[in-house]
Amino acid sequence: MAYENIQVSREGPIATITVNRPKALNALNSATLRELLQAVREAADSSRALILTGAGDKAFVAGADISEMAPMTPWSAREFSELGHVLTAMLEDIPCATIAAVNGYALGGGCELALMCDMIIAGDTARFGQPEVNLGIIPGAGGTQRWPRTAGKYVAMETVLTGAPITASRAHELGIANKVVPAEMTVAIAQRVARQLAEKAPLALRMAKEAVLKAFEAPLAEGLMSERKSFYFLFSTDDQKEGMRAFLEKRKAVFKGR
Ligand code: CAA
Repeated sequence: MAYENIQVSREGPIATITVNRPKALNALNSATLRELLQAVREAADSSRALILTGAGDKAFVAGADISEMAPMTPWSAREFSELGHVLTAMLEDIPCATIAAVNGYALGGGCELALMCDMIIAGDTARFGQPEVNLGIIPGAGGTQRWPRTAGKYVAMETVLTGAPITASRAHELGIANKVVPAEMTVAIAQRVARQLAEKAPLALRMAKEAVLKAFEAPLAEGLMSERKSFYFLFSTDDQKEGMRAFLEKRKAVFKGR
């Protein structure tokens, strides 16, 4: 499918989606959100790892598009927010691993998008923040809920109430970024990580992701039960046989996702 606001590229089992509106610092208007939904849906069916990034060297995504939001009524804002929530929920649900390659500003909806990925690789010029209070609104794509779950109450309050962005190194200290890398290497390093993830047993990767995410929602006993079920289920797969046989035969496993 041809897209106007994003670019999709593929290297073997790895898909890269680049938000491509550099003149607006890759801000997300509803057309871009719809294209992202379609591209993520397609990647879910055909990829083992997905990288999300922004075009240019200044921004990952500088938030929702303010010029589109400015004239919105509460009802149209509700629809817009719903679109953001559908996208972020889909990113969380898709079976392949997702990596945000944050190469500059990740603000507002852009920060929320990054926080919905399984891993975040930040360029050293990246800035993360929720500046919505400066616009008279609050985060609308999950920020008020994801920040406390990721960084705790006080960091969340500081970020959401002050609207002040934090640097890549502070994000790393807070456990929001997995790695901080030289800005120009952000996508290349995300690709390196994606290649490593794409080599893992796909069903195990999918269930590992589900199990970790469960910890944010379920009581401990329920999370542990769910982990145990996935653990023993995986012993019914060809990939478990292959993975363990390959270890014992001192060779690299070839996983088929079955
Ligand atoms: N929406 C629309 N356009 C945006 C934008 C956004 N979120 N962010 C930047 N742009 C546009 C600017 O209007 C400007 O366009 P023109 O050249 O046509 O004037 C262009 O991108 C370059 O931006 P600046 O000139 O402002 O660049 P800068 O280097 O001086 O500042 C910045 C960079 C600090 C990121 C600044 O652009 C900024 O503060 N942007 C807004 C960030 C923001 O508030 N994001 C949250 C949006 S609300 C939201 O996301 C709600 C939600 O949760 C869903």
